[in-house]
Amino acid sequence: MKKFFAILFIIGAAGLSAADKTAADAPDFSSFVWPVESGAYKPGAGVELAQSLCITCHSTEYVSTQPPLPRKFWEATVKKMKEKYAAPLPEDNAALIDYLTSAYGSK
Ligand code: HEC
Repeated sequence: MKKFFAILFIIGAAGLSAADKTAADAPDFSSFVWPVESGAYKPGAGVELAQSLCITCHSTEYVSTQPPLPRKFWEATVKKMKEKYAAPLPEDNAALIDYLTSAYGSK
């Protein structure tokens, strides 16, 4: 019986020290500061739409690093942001898609 309790004690102590280790190794986010958004959408007709609708979830680089793709791509992208990622976008995004195509797309 003594042996049984000794084994229990060892298992318990090992468990406790494992728990301590996890807590000590947890990253400390208390001083984390979000980086300031340094990107901006290119000027052009409709830029205010992108600036207000397309910066809540990710940086402008998601758009500016795309190759110059046709209107169909931007149409599909806006649709994807709305339907797949639940971006709160209006029903009619024609002006926004026009802007994205002229600023970042190909004719
Ligand atoms: C609700 C959040 C949200 C909003 C608002 C949003 N996006 Fe996104 N976007 C995402 C997510 C999530 C991804 C995918 C990220 C990843 O794969 O790392 C993404 C990725 C992208 C990409 C990269 C290509 C791709 O399809 O993954 C482009 C381009 C893009 N977004 C454009 C836009 C534009 C233009 C707008 C404004 C109409 C916009 N996003 C608004 C969530 C959002």
